[in-house]
Amino acid sequence: MNRHPGGDEHTKEMLRLASVTVPARILDMGAGDGQTVRLLRDLGFYVQGIDLITSTDVTWGDFLHTSYDAESFDVVLSQCSFFISGRIQEAFTEAYRVVKPHGFLLYSDVGIRNSQNLIDSVVNVGFHIICFQDMTEIWRQYYVECLWRGEDISKLYCPIPKGKYGYYMLICRKEG
Ligand SMILES: C[S@@+](CC[C@H](N)C(=O)[O-])C[C@H]1O[C@@H](n2cnc3c(N)ncnc32)[C@H](O)[C@@H]1O
Repeated sequence: MNRHPGGDEHTKEMLRLASVTVPARILDMGAGDGQTVRLLRDLGFYVQGIDLITSTDVTWGDFLHTSYDAESFDVVLSQCSFFISGRIQEAFTEAYRVVKPHGFLLYSDVGIRNSQNLIDSVVNVGFHIICFQDMTEIWRQYYVECLWRGEDISKLYCPIPKGKYGYYMLICRKEG
């Protein structure tokens, strides 16, 4: 089961929007049980994933303080993970540190409406936004489909916060 709205097609769409091709080095921050790590490896990419849950395809660790070298990945990907850490700004700072100059952050997650806070957070650490999409309707549909299949949505990792929240995609580039 995908733990992010849009599923594998959304992941591939983000790669297309940033024109990321093999053999890029990709880090999945908040990789869960590694579903996206496996998808990207099957596509031929070199991929590392980091998460607080243990899985065979993912390295255990806190994405706020990774042990990866600075500027060691062409792409950082994160789907539905930074928001629940409660420390979005620090997560963006770490993403910025590990991505190479001219590399990309492919990001989709919950954010407060309006999305200006989220945009300010990525720009403040130094990323340049090249694409933005409001995915809130896709996010709602994701939960409807989970309910329709009879899944217990309280067990989903992707949170449903109270209040005025949306779900957003950002494709960002680190300037050289
Ligand atoms: C909704 S799941 C998304 C998993 C995966 N990105 C996906 O789309 O299938 C959120 C994940 O973020 C992870 N996470 C939250 N805070 C983290 C942190 N500080 N360091 C590493 N992983 C974290 C959780 O353990 C969880 O697996």
